[in-house]
This record gives sequence, structure tokens and C-alpha cells, in this order.
Amino acid sequence: MSVPEYFVLDNEDRMPRIGFGTWQTSDDVLEKAVDAALKAGYKHIDTARAYENEATLGKALKRWIGDDEDKRKELFIVSKLPPGGNRPELVEEYFQASYNDLGLKYIDMYLMHVPFSFEHVPGDLHPKNPDGSMKVDLTTDIVSTWKAMQKLKDSGKVRHLGVSNMNEEQLKRLCEIAKPECLQVEVHILCQQKPLIAAASSLGIPIVAYSPLGSKALADMLSTKTGREYPSQLDLPAVKEIAEKHGRTPAQILLRYLLQHGVAAIPKSTDPTRIQQNINVWDFELNEAEFNELRSLDQGENGRICDFSFFRGVEKHPEFPFKK
Ligand code: A2P
Repeated sequence: MSVPEYFVLDNEDRMPRIGFGTWQTSDDVLEKAVDAALKAGYKHIDTARAYENEATLGKALKRWIGDDEDKRKELFIVSKLPPGGNRPELVEEYFQASYNDLGLKYIDMYLMHVPFSFEHVPGDLHPKNPDGSMKVDLTTDIVSTWKAMQKLKDSGKVRHLGVSNMNEEQLKRLCEIAKPECLQVEVHILCQQKPLIAAASSLGIPIVAYSPLGSKALADMLSTKTGREYPSQLDLPAVKEIAEKHGRTPAQILLRYLLQHGVAAIPKSTDPTRIQQNINVWDFELNEAEFNELRSLDQGENGRICDFSFFRGVEKHPEFPFKK
């Protein structure tokens, strides 16, 4: 099954279906990793205000682009409104902070990062109560924030608007104002999001998969906290067997599966060899039997890793997206 290399957006801009993820990458390693990713041919790079690394990414991008407008045009840079900014009167301020740090004339895609909200505490993107729970703002609503985000386009500083971590009902509600041009959610072999992908596809919304390789760092952190075990997706026997047959690595099989599953993916790595490997997924295909075998590994909601349990208290927000 052949897969297009891009999603074509409403104005014909192209969003590459393999991007480079930057979550949980510290500043010192990020700069080198982004250099390696740009050299390897990645055009789509994903960041967020909440990752607290936009200035570092901006430095690496500036070095790569120099004065070459064409080099900038080839790139597709994504950032996100943090949970403290989910209020109409704060959207512009938070966007401007990302815009300044990235140092680009425009950002290609700006997403509402999550549908729940934290209190706005200047200088603290993850404000906590003394007991360690998050300072959650229960009064915010995604529709008014989404309306305010639409105005960002008028400035020319952002070309496309989308959302992340939303469920089908939330997507539909936002579509009544304006269709999100992208939905970024967790998708991998154990959490394949089949119903959400079908719903987004019928609404004409492209999906970008975060944690496409199972986000080992997050799984390890949650496992330490809760004792729950998260299987290593790279070590699943079916994945390893198919990788051997194709002379590919397990990561390439997981990513190729996602492409054939109809979504874009933003794997992250800090290792130049693996960074290169993760974008070399265009010159082979999984056959129907292999595809179906991997499709059957889906655990649905039970396979979700990023359930936001590390933000204690957000599950009480009326817009918390995941209902068991
Ligand atoms: P590393 O940075 O050492 O390469 P996800 O994108 O799902 O969040 O997964 C990222 C994790 O997967 C990181 O721990 C990363 O480690 C690891 N990883 C990324 N690419 C590969 C690869 N090609 N093979 C094995 N592990 C990989």
C-alpha cells in the first residue's frame, strides 16, 4: 500500500507525514538532535510552549535557515498553546511568547495542546497546589478559546490551526466554529485510535500520532509511579519478526504501520543513526497479512500511555478528554 508523503491542507500547504518530535528532550541534547534531523531530511518539526524548549529549537532553525527563504518554506513547524493559555484573553500573549522564541516569520501550525486548563500563573506553565495536584481552572471552555485562536491567522504569524488530545465530541463541537486542520493524539500499535481516526477522517481532519514508538521515557516514569507495566513495543515478537523479514528495524516497522494506518507520525530520538532510520520508511511496504497482524495488536483504551495522570487533578475538568 503506497502512502503519500504529505497531508495536503486546505490552502494546498503540505504537512509531511513523518515529523520530528521534541517532547522531553533537554536543551543541550535538543540542539544537536534538531541539527541531525534537519540533515536527515525532516521538514516537519513539532514543539510546544509546554516543552519549554522553543528558544533552543529556534536557535537550531535559525542556523539551518540563515537568510534562505526557500529553506524556511520547505519546513513545517508546529507549536501549541499551553494549558494555562486556554482562555480567549490569553491566547495572543501565549502565542506571541512561542512566536518570539521560535524566531520565525510565521508558524505553520498552532494547536490547542489540551482541552483542560491550568490557572494562568506567569512564569509557571505547570502550576501546582501545595499537595502536588495541578492548579486546574475548571471554568474555561474550548469553544471560546478556539474562537480566539481563529484571530491569530489574521496577523499572518500562523498559517494553520489545529488541536491535540481531544475526543470525537470535542472535535465536532469545534467544527461548528471552524474545522481544526489537524488533530494530534497518541497513536501507536497498542493504542490505535481506530474510532477516533474514523471520526476525524469523516470530518476531513488529518491525524498526527505522538508517541508513535511507545514513548519509553513517559512509560518508564509512569511505571515508577504506578507500578503498571508498559510493554516495549520495539520488542513485541510480531514486530521483530516482520522487521527481520524486511531487513528493517522494529522502529521502522512501527512507523510504517502508522503511515499505512493513515496517520502522520512524529517520532523523537536524540541519536543521529536512529533519527535517520526513522525517516527512512518510504521505500518498503507492509503486505496485507503483516498489516493485519499488527492491526490485531491494538489494546484500545487500555493501550493508552499518556493519560495525563501525571497532572493530578485534571481528570476533574469538565473537558478532560478521556472517559473510560
Ligand atoms: P533515543 O532518543 O535514545 O533514540 P516516542 O517517539 O514514541 O516518544 O519514542 C521515543 C523513544 O524511542 C526514545 O526513548 C528514543 O530513544 C526511542 N527511539 C527513537 N527512535 C528509535 C529507534 N529507531 N530505535 C529504537 N529506539 C528508538
